[in-house]
Amino acid sequence: MCGITGFTGKEAALPFLLQGLEKLEYRGYDSAGVTLVDAKGLYTVKTKGRLKDLRELLANEHLPQTAGIGHTRWATHGVPSNLNSHPHTNAKNTISIVHNGIIENYASIKEELLRQGYPFVSETDSEVIVHLIDYYDKGDIFEALKKALRYLQGSFALCVVSTANPDTVYVAKKDSPMIVGHSSIGSFCASDIPAVLEYTKDIMTLEDGNLAVLKADGVELYDFAGNPLPQHWTHVPYDLQAAQKGGYDTFMEKEIHEQPHVIQETLRGRIVNDDISLNELDQLAFPWENLERVYFVACGTAYNASMFAQDLFRHHVPKIPSFALAASEFRYGSYYLSPNTLCIFVSQSGETADTLAALNRAKERGAKTLAIVNVLGSGLARKADVTLYTCAGPEIAVASTKAYTTQLVLLTCLVIKMSELLGVARENFKELIDNLKDMPKIVEDMLKEKDQVHEYAKLLADKHDAYFIGRKMDYFSVVEGALKLKEVSYIHADAYLAGELKHGPIALIDKGTVVIALATQADVAAKTISNIEETKARGAVVILITTSKQNTDKFNYVLRVPNISPYLMAIPVAVLLQLFAYYAAVIKGCDVDKPRNLAKSVTVE
Ligand code: M6R
Repeated sequence: MCGITGFTGKEAALPFLLQGLEKLEYRGYDSAGVTLVDAKGLYTVKTKGRLKDLRELLANEHLPQTAGIGHTRWATHGVPSNLNSHPHTNAKNTISIVHNGIIENYASIKEELLRQGYPFVSETDSEVIVHLIDYYDKGDIFEALKKALRYLQGSFALCVVSTANPDTVYVAKKDSPMIVGHSSIGSFCASDIPAVLEYTKDIMTLEDGNLAVLKADGVELYDFAGNPLPQHWTHVPYDLQAAQKGGYDTFMEKEIHEQPHVIQETLRGRIVNDDISLNELDQLAFPWENLERVYFVACGTAYNASMFAQDLFRHHVPKIPSFALAASEFRYGSYYLSPNTLCIFVSQSGETADTLAALNRAKERGAKTLAIVNVLGSGLARKADVTLYTCAGPEIAVASTKAYTTQLVLLTCLVIKMSELLGVARENFKELIDNLKDMPKIVEDMLKEKDQVHEYAKLLADKHDAYFIGRKMDYFSVVEGALKLKEVSYIHADAYLAGELKHGPIALIDKGTVVIALATQADVAAKTISNIEETKARGAVVILITTSKQNTDKFNYVLRVPNISPYLMAIPVAVLLQLFAYYAAVIKGCDVDKPRNLAKSVTVE
């Protein structure tokens, strides 16, 4: 997740640009750079590495320029390197840009610009932007930018400076966050509020399709066609520490609420003409006709996501054996591995010791390896034959929330694509693909249930135990729900297959025991409901999560999920169970972001 800063005003720009980038460090990055501008020209310095490396390069310079742009890059197209770092400049060194997001049609734009003789020096999608602006630049940079914006598809938060108007910073936004700010010393822009808070609390959050023109004495706002727009400024009431949490009390709460956006980001470019696009699979060069078995290997929450993938794959390709395995078992177990075995490793951090060791073992035995990770350039990403990235952004709270739901989304895309490669007809995936397209909105709707979930979480306030039950695809959801509750609220939680209850666990159900029951799988919902009634008969307080189709007259505490494919219920259900765990922990006064005994990344065995 890249960071952007920009400034034009009455003081030197560099101090703001650098401190702003430092405030955005939490987003993660692998290179950094700035362009300063005045009538004499552009001065660009950029480097692979950390902001301290950039500061060292700038340390002995006298840099009084009062306008400039800065960037920290989290590599997506092209490895972390000096050349791939932002800002990118045109060949004449008169225009400089920084960009967050992904230009989806960069390949076709690049092809055309190469034909026109434009020299490309980086492997990034972003570099096309500066050459496209240059192509349209006939002396008016604002006009050139408007023309270029007409061709850019994908997501972008974009800042542009040019020697033609050295006192102006141009900012455009679509599907990638950007704010602008103003104070008596000048105008600012940044990809998040913390970057500007030391300088101003008067900010305007840009909307998609906004084009802002920053000058020392104020900000002008237009649409991409250049029509003036009304401006909506707000005074930020909170301090810097709170701002990094985006106004939320905790990172966990913030990350739960980011899910509609990060699911959208993970799906970006993955659904093309109602089919799944995963070009990375070509690099595997896997002989699909010889595929013998599939292992999904991971730890913790990522293991729960792997169980989901195992069942989705088994349903669509029952003839190929598939297994979800805990990495800590896989690394020492006797599992059949061969060059015709595909091992899929799932991890937020990409640095979990057991998962890395499991990958090494799979490679030693000649299996093909694919990683699904969130952190770019992490150990798993470097070692696997092919890597697919979830686009959840930095996950700071120890409890995994947005990484999990983006894993479910990406694993669904992967299973669909693998099934197609193994001969399953495309028509079988229509409902799943339609549901995936709707998923950001579905998750948004789930978040609206938070007050209700908060009320139900109070039922746990004085409890030491909770039991989660479900059947079929609901089982992985209850395992994950119980894990979330345990780790943040310290309430003992167990998850059981609903049909297994009467074979032992029902002995634990007593008057007042809280049971969280999932009945989202239509074909077995009636069976689950009768298991739930067995617990009610023994005095359990039942919170039921089910679809609107289910009659719930006999239940006092009910949460509804939409009627989507049973195979994707895990995603809306996860949001409700995350909120449930979160509020239970808050009610108990726990440190939700840093639960005791837990680390964000378990890099030791
Ligand atoms: O970074 P990873 O996804 O490999 O981490 C795996 C587990 O350590 C992690 O999911 C852990 O279970 C979380 N704290 C769960 O919320």
